[in-house]
Amino acid sequence: MFKLLSLVLYAALALCQNNTNSTTYTNPILDAGGADPWVIRHDGWYYMTFTNNNDVTLWRSKILTNWNEAESRLLFKPPPGLNYSTDLWAPELHNLNGVWYVIFTADPRNDSPPPEVEMWCEYNCPAVHHRMFTLEGQGDDPWTAEFTFKSELDTYDQFAIDGTYFQHSTGLYHIYSCWNRGTDGWPANLCITQLENPWTVSSPFSERQIISVPTLPWEKTPYGRTVNDRLSSNEGPQQLTNPTTGQQFVIFSAARSDNRNYCLAQLELVGDNPMNPSDWRKHQYPIFFQNPEEEAYGVGHASFVKSPDETEDWIVYHGMRDPTNGWGARTIRTQRFTWNEDGSPNFPEPGYGPYQVPSGQS
Ligand SMILES: *[C@@H]1O[C@H](CO)[C@@H](O)[C@H](O)[C@H]1NC(C)=O
Ligand SMILES: *[C@@H]1O[C@H](CO)[C@@H](O)[C@H](O)[C@H]1NC(C)=O
Ligand SMILES: *[C@@H]1O[C@H](CO)[C@@H](O)[C@H](O)[C@H]1NC(C)=O
Repeated sequence: MFKLLSLVLYAALALCQNNTNSTTYTNPILDAGGADPWVIRHDGWYYMTFTNNNDVTLWRSKILTNWNEAESRLLFKPPPGLNYSTDLWAPELHNLNGVWYVIFTADPRNDSPPPEVEMWCEYNCPAVHHRMFTLEGQGDDPWTAEFTFKSELDTYDQFAIDGTYFQHSTGLYHIYSCWNRGTDGWPANLCITQLENPWTVSSPFSERQIISVPTLPWEKTPYGRTVNDRLSSNEGPQQLTNPTTGQQFVIFSAARSDNRNYCLAQLELVGDNPMNPSDWRKHQYPIFFQNPEEEAYGVGHASFVKSPDETEDWIVYHGMRDPTNGWGARTIRTQRFTWNEDGSPNFPEPGYGPYQVPSGQS
């Protein structure tokens, strides 16, 4: 009886897990867990990177909605004993002026303590040695390009994670999650510095600017905490440009990555100078957040990509079905999004589908 039951269960599970369907798909798009997904489309392929802690691995798939059979390729594995040998987080692959770069977070000797410990520590939290680094790829095709270590991005010997490139008519910028001072621990803000090229920061420390601080109740965990800034964070920034109006946004994650309140927030560049904090306008509410009715919690750390025919915009993000299981519960999902009248992105409620596949996907 038990055997029969498990057989039936197994068959049902196998059916459920088949999310390849010509017209619809379901989330997650990769059965194995994953966090901090970055997706870019190039020459008919979708390329994805996400955090695996040990190295930078690139995945590629012809379709955006199923990565279970995707090919993978190791781009870079650091030798032991260096400042970037452990905790490789949130790698992103960018093409800047025709050259491929990977920007990623890492630290020496597993700087980060387990979350059970970190949850309780006071202001001088660990993670103090997390920094940003770059790789450069030689070759036009990211699948065959040779990637080698290029640089550390200067963050003035202070905590830095989740760095990304921000491209603007006035130049190239580094936007990353930072502390106010070297040993603050919290809150984690968003900082910006100017780049001379994709691997060199030109701003001196005195010109580094903080463009977002987690001051609103939903950016803090536990929700609405007013006294102690511990566990308040702004991180995972990503550039998003409205293809019709040209408005520039930075979509970032707020609250805390291992719990259900993690969500997406929005900055819009309303002036001409990304280095001027008052040229950024922060939306007062989260723009993409947990959907308990569909058991979609802790949704954040997104990136953005087009459908195969380039008519639709898609968000790729991570979330969790079990909000009590912390970082290990995160899986990678994707959904279509549209645009509001005011030009800002209009994200859907997070869920599991089935949803229509991206336009032009066969
Ligand atoms: C999954 O679904 C696709 C499309 O309906 C089908 O071609 C394929 O055979 C299915 N695979 C399994 C393992 O059931
Ligand atoms: C596949 O498509 C059919 C109808 O077109 C739908 O009923 C079914 O739920 C879909 N399955 C998945 C896994 O998306
Ligand atoms: C490694 O990190 C430490 C602490 O941040 C720093 O003082 C040192 O200069 C770094 N080493 C190299 C080779 O960059």
